[in-house]
Amino acid sequence: MRVFVTGGTGTIGTPVVAELLNSGHPVLGLARSESSAQTLKHAGAEVLRGELTDLDVLRAGVAQSEGVISLAFSPNYDTPEGLAAAITEESSAMAAMGEELIGSDRSIVITSGTPWVAGRASTEQDPLPLVGPVAGRAQSVNALLGLASRGVRTAAVRLPRTVHNEGKGGFAGLLAEQARRTGAAGYPGDGTQRWPAVHALDAAVLFRLVLESAPPRTAWHAVADEGDMVLDIATVVGRRLGLRVQSVPQENFGPFGPIFAMDQPASSAHTRVTLRWQPTHPSLLEDLENIQP
Ligand SMILES: NC(=O)c1ccc[n+]([C@@H]2O[C@H](COP(=O)([O-])OP(=O)(O)OC[C@H]3O[C@@H](n4cnc5c(N)ncnc54)[C@H](OP(=O)(O)O)[C@@H]3O)[C@@H](O)[C@H]2O)c1
Repeated sequence: MRVFVTGGTGTIGTPVVAELLNSGHPVLGLARSESSAQTLKHAGAEVLRGELTDLDVLRAGVAQSEGVISLAFSPNYDTPEGLAAAITEESSAMAAMGEELIGSDRSIVITSGTPWVAGRASTEQDPLPLVGPVAGRAQSVNALLGLASRGVRTAAVRLPRTVHNEGKGGFAGLLAEQARRTGAAGYPGDGTQRWPAVHALDAAVLFRLVLESAPPRTAWHAVADEGDMVLDIATVVGRRLGLRVQSVPQENFGPFGPIFAMDQPASSAHTRVTLRWQPTHPSLLEDLENIQP
């Protein structure tokens, strides 16, 4: 299946492109710069030059492909306005790609976060929360999944807070970046809140499995670690960087602060059994040992 991939040079997209190519699926990758185009070509993909805002380019990419994986997102996490603009940009891009697929019976796999449910690990059956700083993403994911009734094979891979590779990526990666900037490995609250995680190489396999075989309008959890305590994450970050570990106000984490402070374990039991997905790569706490001072 020829697959149009956006975000194919990112933490998750890079192994997704490799996984698709290794499994015999040719890839057409969106590239917004010459260096991203070179990276994709080097990986063995064809390149379509354009940005997420070039909706005609996105429609053309979809039209030339038998499946789509949507991963591109502008990492603008510093202010609520920046995050909102990135969500709007992604929503318009997903809507354009979805429209192009109507009536085609072709697949599109999109991403969202795992939901949070008070007192237990969330499951694939739980709805995405429609409140908080990333509520707009949940709305556009639900809208796209709804295109299943109009002849599109839609599916969502829900990602945990940290998708990591070589100690980098996701919320744990943001904690490490902030530690380097501020000189302390800070965490919000008392640190007992849990965040789920997955290695990017394991997530990539799940994206391929969902593309190949998921029924329309389904959601899957790319979760390997059901929940790592944030204090444990900060402790490894602090030790690797030689910095003290301390609780800091959640406001220090910008628009993500409220989400950073929440206990939000997630299960992937249904995903593992149904799609025969088995994570095999290092856990987050093991992978964080790759952080270099
Ligand atoms: N990593 C995590 O822990 C995690 C957790 C939950 C959800 N997610 C979601 O999963 C998706 C992929 O995450 P990631 O960690 O792989 O992201 P990433 O490493 O930041 O990569 C982002 C990708 O999107 C591309 N991109 C960004 N803005 C673009 C634009 N305006 N036009 C075209 N391409 C653009 C980048 O291309 P360039 O190479 O040109 O920069 C890159 O390929 C995102 O939607 C993210 O929010 C990630």
